[in-house]
Order: sequence, then structure tokens, then C-alpha cells
Amino acid sequence: MLLKTVILISLFLAYGSDLCEMTLQGGICLFGGETVLMPNAVQDGLKGHWTFDDDSGLDSSGSQNHASKTVGAGPSYGGQGTSASITGSDYIEIPDSNGSLSSTLFSVTFWVFIGDSQNSEGLRWCPLLQKGNDQEDQVIYERVPAVYYDREDRQLKAYVSTDEDVKHPQGEYVISNARIPFNRWTHIGVVRTQSRIRLFVNGIKDAVNSTDGWTQTNSSPLYIGNTPSTLEDCPVSFYVDEVRYFNRELEEEEIEAESAGALGAIEAYYIRLGCINCVLSDAEESCPEDTHHLCTSIELHSAGYQVARAMGWTDWNSHIWVHDSEADSSSETGIAICCLNLG
Ligand SMILES: *[C@@H]1O[C@H](CO)[C@@H](O)[C@H](O)[C@H]1NC(C)=O
Ligand SMILES: *[C@@H]1O[C@H](CO)[C@@H](O)[C@H](O)[C@H]1NC(C)=O
Repeated sequence: MLLKTVILISLFLAYGSDLCEMTLQGGICLFGGETVLMPNAVQDGLKGHWTFDDDSGLDSSGSQNHASKTVGAGPSYGGQGTSASITGSDYIEIPDSNGSLSSTLFSVTFWVFIGDSQNSEGLRWCPLLQKGNDQEDQVIYERVPAVYYDREDRQLKAYVSTDEDVKHPQGEYVISNARIPFNRWTHIGVVRTQSRIRLFVNGIKDAVNSTDGWTQTNSSPLYIGNTPSTLEDCPVSFYVDEVRYFNRELEEEEIEAESAGALGAIEAYYIRLGCINCVLSDAEESCPEDTHHLCTSIELHSAGYQVARAMGWTDWNSHIWVHDSEADSSSETGIAICCLNLG
């Protein structure tokens, strides 16, 4: 795998780059064609894919959106290759050389691992990733998208700047129900549709918000790990891996497939969040009627609790409603977790 990557790098950087010693226009055949080196296969709409398995922040999507500035290596998700290790005082910068990272409809996915020993100084909300840079003194916010992490409650906020910038100067956003647990890999996906922002955590559609305006793209770089404008105030350290940018909406299924393993052996579509801090009667009605039901005790023990923990939902309320249970009082609240109707 690694040898292949190293040689492909030279092929990627075909034009006008000083990264390559040698440039070939075609593939390479070794041992009379027994081994052939060709570009990677590319998923439809993939315009950037940073694996961080090399030390240069190279884009393996074929669109040549290589980083101009990168960071050191950390342990990878899944144990293959390496991740990018963000120390809290640096970031990865990926120039948007020809606008291929500026789509009005798009999806961005990545894996993140946040350790529990953090420097607590600075801002409460800090960027994990941002396409664009803010100039707060001039009230200019470029966030297409931006994924911010709440250092107190560990929620996420996914922003998209729109033309409704008088009403929403910092961009429109959706805030997660999930709270990112420390010390484990979490898969995150942001999907921008015509009129919505969808936020996926571990393949589960965790939160959705509608937006008033149209996406307002920018030509600034994609920053990963921090941004020039927050560098002084966001000493957050974490690992980030497999960042992908698509110039289209990803289907739910594609995100589930990409995030496989994030919930152990449990499939993301098996579990849905019904509601948080809701009374029993609302809990029962919160599950999508045709496909899901409030999980039974057995279902909670075999999957529900594990997923709730990975999603940090239990940090909201440690009480989880069980199918056919009875409330002690009508004001008692809990979390509704919905399980897929089988058969
Ligand atoms: C520019 O865009 C084209 C088409 O998407 C892509 O194939 C090419 O690699 C891009 N080049 C750079 C330098 O970004
Ligand atoms: C949805 O957007 C509105 C308007 O920007 C905001 O007030 C609200 O908190 C958002 N809801 C969620 C769940 O993020």
C-alpha cells in the first residue's frame, strides 16, 4: 500500500509542482505488467481526500488540492497509516486553487479523536475544520462549512454562510444532539442541501436544520485543526483523519458505509434518536412510526446503551425510556432511543 502511495504521489503532482522529482503522464508497469501503478479510484464528486498517510497533506482525490501547510503525524483510525496530529497551536491549510472546494451543495466527512487532557484556556467554541477564514473586526465570517466544537458541553455546531448574512452574520448552523466522547474516534459528516444542513455523527443523522439563505461560497483555503483567526484562542489538541470533500449531497447510506465501525458492530440505521429530556408520552411518539419503535429493554442492552454512550446522548439525561415502561410521575423526563422494526 505504502509503496503504491509514494509512487502515485509523483503522478498526482503532474504540473507545475516542485514536489516531484519525476513526472510521468501514464501508469507504471513493473515486472512486465505483473504489478501496475495507476491513480486511485475516485468516488463520484470527491474533490478532496486527505488521508494524512504522507507527510505533506496530499490530496488523493485526483483534484490536486494538496495542503500548502501541514502538521505532524498521529495514530490513525483503524490502525492503517497515520492521522494528522493537531497540537492546538497549528493547523493544516489547503488552498482552494481552482474553486473545486467551493460548491454550493456539498458534503464534508472526517474522523476525529479528542483526548481528555485539554488546555482549558481560550474560547468555548473552537473550529475543528473551516473552509474560509473569519475577520471578526470587520464582521466577515466565511464558513462553508465550518465545524465548531463546544469545549464545555462537547457538542458540535456545523455552519454554512449564506446570503442571509444580515440576519445570520456568522452563518446559519445546526447544533448537534451528540456530545463527542473523549478518547475515541468519532465520524462526522456535514451535508449541505439546497435548504438544509444535516449533521451526521457516527453515521447517525443526529441533527438537521433548515436555512433561510443560499450558500455563499468563498475562495479562502480549507483549514483543518484550527484557523488563522482562532489560533491564539483555541489551544485544542486532537487527531483528525480521512477528511473528504464532495461537491454533492451524500446519501445517508454512503455516510453509514463510510462510518462503519464507529458504533462497534451496530449499524447506524438500526438506532435513531427520538427526543432528549422528554416525557414518556412524547418519547413514545418520537420514533418514526413506519420504521422504528421505542427500544425494548433487551434492545437497549444489546445496542441502545452502547450507541447512546458513543453519541454522548446520556450526558443530557441518564434516564432512557424503555418500551412499555411506566413513568413514576408525569413530569419525569428521559431520552427516547428508537430501534428499527425488524421483520
Ligand atoms: C482543477 O480542477 C480540475 C477539475 O475539477 C481538476 O481536475 C484539477 O486537478 C484541478 N487542479 C488544481 C490544481 O486544483
Ligand atoms: C436552527 O437555526 C436557528 C436559526 O439560526 C437557530 O436559532 C436554532 O438554534 C437552530 N437549531 C438547531 C437544532 O441547531
